[in-house]
Amino acid sequence: MKFSSRLDRFGDEVFAALNQRRLKLEAEGRTIYNLSVGTPDFAPYDHVVEALRDAAADPVQWKYSLRDLPELKQAVCDYYASRFGVEGITPDMVASCNGTQEGVGHLGLALLDPGDTALVPDPCYPVFEAGVKIADGELAYYPLSAEHDFLPHVADIDPAVADRAKYMIVSLPANPVGSVGTPEVYEEIIAFAREHDLLIVHDNAYSDIVYDGPRGGSFLQYPGALEVGVEFFSLSKSFNVTGARIGFLVGRSDVVSAFAKLRSQIDFGMFYPIQKAAIAALTGPLDQVEAQRLKYQERRDALCDGLERIGWERPNAHGTMFVWAKLPGGRTDSMAFCEELMDRAGVVVTPGASFGPSGEGYVRMALVLPPEGLQAAVAAIEAAGI
Ligand SMILES: Cc1ncc(COP(=O)(O)O)c(C=O)c1O
Repeated sequence: MKFSSRLDRFGDEVFAALNQRRLKLEAEGRTIYNLSVGTPDFAPYDHVVEALRDAAADPVQWKYSLRDLPELKQAVCDYYASRFGVEGITPDMVASCNGTQEGVGHLGLALLDPGDTALVPDPCYPVFEAGVKIADGELAYYPLSAEHDFLPHVADIDPAVADRAKYMIVSLPANPVGSVGTPEVYEEIIAFAREHDLLIVHDNAYSDIVYDGPRGGSFLQYPGALEVGVEFFSLSKSFNVTGARIGFLVGRSDVVSAFAKLRSQIDFGMFYPIQKAAIAALTGPLDQVEAQRLKYQERRDALCDGLERIGWERPNAHGTMFVWAKLPGGRTDSMAFCEELMDRAGVVVTPGASFGPSGEGYVRMALVLPPEGLQAAVAAIEAAGI
């Protein structure tokens, strides 16, 4: 059978190749430090698990969930007000999705006609590109480079491309590069969106994993953001519920309803017990979220201090559960370096080039081990002479 040529737009999964190699080394009895995965090793909070368990015990909750529960939408609105200080979010400005991954993956189908342009960061979280490719759109990139602290620098974006583009994805704190947005950057982006009639799609997956300063926030808290943008808001990382697939699109109601219309053709909605768990997370205490942020910060310190001590350039790591490290010793090929690091030190990381051309020369390391585990990984790298 001749499958859709759409599939030709997607390359082979780099993770699959690295995984094969890792499994082989593990089978040989090698100690492996796997810093390639983006899944938190922390547990979900008890009150969230209980809400899911209680709801799942009721057979009625197993029916098709044809809508987002009004209490769920209200919980999102209230959370935006209390947690982010964003007043004025109403239930028509909220739609659920099965995590941001699925939401961004489908968004292009609601916003783009074939050949329409969308701006995405380079390097970026891969579904930002995939969502445009699935919709037969054209990708345009804007770089996140060391020169501008790995932040969007709209002054460098070609105005003609910006005029042509329908939406621009911005995601701060940024996976994989570890940068965190500043008010000035958001103000520039909002002004740029107005000037070029662009929709800003902000992915806020790491609002609770920001280091060294004020708590993370929301794009929608900045003046004018609600006119030019929408935000994907996910419970995955803040509440350690990555497998439950809980995400929302929040913001401009015309965009949210277009997105919900598209999704309603494909899916029936979030399993009711998961909706109940989401309500428990959004309306419950947030002290564990803060405690966890501090734990991530200790991990960040352990890894970055250790790498710096053994002669690496200090990685960029201001937020997210990742650090973005420049290849040591003048190396330039991130895939070759990942193979070398795995073979010689047993440390598994992700090649920067897999996130886009501007990621070449870097690797992404996930903070998924406690500080002692990360120190042991650094010691293994040092012992291997890397
Ligand atoms: C930037 C970014 N967006 C979205 C996601 C996926 O979020 P979700 O679990 O809500 O699909 C991730 C996961 O690593 C991510 O890094």
